[in-house]
Amino acid sequence: MKVLVLEQTAELAELIGLYLSSISSAEVTATHRTEDVMEGLKAPVDVFIFNQQFMAAGVDAAYKECLARNPRAAMVIIGEKAQDGHYLLQSSNLVQEIKEMTKAPFWRGLSGKPAELPLPLSPYLVYRLGVCPADLFLKLGDNNWVKLFHRGSPFGEEEQKKFESKGLREFYVLAEDVQKTMGYFEDLLSALKASEDVPLIADASEFIWHALKENGFHEEIQRVAHLAVKQSLAAVRKDPELASFVEKIFRPEHAWMVRHNLIITHIACAMATQLGWTSEQTYMKIATAALLHDLALPRHDMDEEIWLLSASGEKLKEGMDPEVKAFLQHPIEGAQMIRRHKLIPPDTDKILLEHHELPEGGGFPRGLTAPQISPLGAVFILAHASATILLQEGHPTKWRMTALLERLTASRWHGGHFGKAWQALEKSELFPK
Ligand SMILES: [Fe+2]
Ligand SMILES: [Fe+2]
Repeated sequence: MKVLVLEQTAELAELIGLYLSSISSAEVTATHRTEDVMEGLKAPVDVFIFNQQFMAAGVDAAYKECLARNPRAAMVIIGEKAQDGHYLLQSSNLVQEIKEMTKAPFWRGLSGKPAELPLPLSPYLVYRLGVCPADLFLKLGDNNWVKLFHRGSPFGEEEQKKFESKGLREFYVLAEDVQKTMGYFEDLLSALKASEDVPLIADASEFIWHALKENGFHEEIQRVAHLAVKQSLAAVRKDPELASFVEKIFRPEHAWMVRHNLIITHIACAMATQLGWTSEQTYMKIATAALLHDLALPRHDMDEEIWLLSASGEKLKEGMDPEVKAFLQHPIEGAQMIRRHKLIPPDTDKILLEHHELPEGGGFPRGLTAPQISPLGAVFILAHASATILLQEGHPTKWRMTALLERLTASRWHGGHFGKAWQALEKSELFPK
């Protein structure tokens, strides 16, 4: 299956190309130059994706050429208005729209395989709901699922224990059932007293993370994510000691990603407090960015690996394999994903865009230097670095402030807002010296 993408912003064209290649087996050519498209159209093309502005500006030679040479090709317009017989990708939410497109009948007809995969849901969360919010599946192997519970079946402690005693850690919910499932969570999370039930926050955060990643920013999911973020902040406030927070909030089965996200929230909020940035809006920005910052990762365990490489001064820009190249785009892609959504605080996208930059300019995607990085970005970057190191150190009872500061290397965190961020980290009493 051959796909041609014409988008006049070079960066966006590259991003669409990378993204499409990462979620489908299509052979994708993405460009911002009409000449390249004309060249590409000499061979048969199955799907032609192009920006509507080309039509409005009258630059429709490529479109006409495609119609003439490949009358059966599917036409996909990036823009705001639908056009007869063409599939529309709304430019305001491109990543999610592209994902939806891969489920559309024309795409499935061409690629022959559905993009849909079930989402993991912890038995603990289902137990807390008391009822199965959707049909629950068990994974037996790749593309091999068995339905274990029907939607609406009661699910109590006994069922949870039985399930977990067999060493089974996750149910799966079909992606199409996620929105229904969210309705069940909303009541549960609104009624929750964070101080009383912290593990539920980590479970909910984990499921919401997957739901946002796979299903996008539907209003219902956003509302529940907003609630979960508020609850995570309440839990952070309740436990200013990081090690005690970690012990209370996580169970062994919680994934690296949810630990990473919630530990960043904790550290960055402690630093903001030290800096006197104590508005609710600032804390919400931090916690929202922490939940969302790695949503666009192609493979979840890469964040740690590549952060360590970039922090050690390894040059990541040139000569990397396609997977690493796609990884280097995740801050841009993440920022694009969350833009313009109602419940996301303004400028949270900026934190996402900056989260892998480093003060001396060795970070990515833009290789910014300290003075170019925003104040909250600097705090988040340092909290992200600290969380990555701590998760490598093993059990929280072993965490020591002096060891953390030593591994972070004081001398690198200066310039711009990093000096103050470093002092705030030093002053924050997250765990023993
Ligand atoms: Fe990241
Ligand atoms: Fe990260």
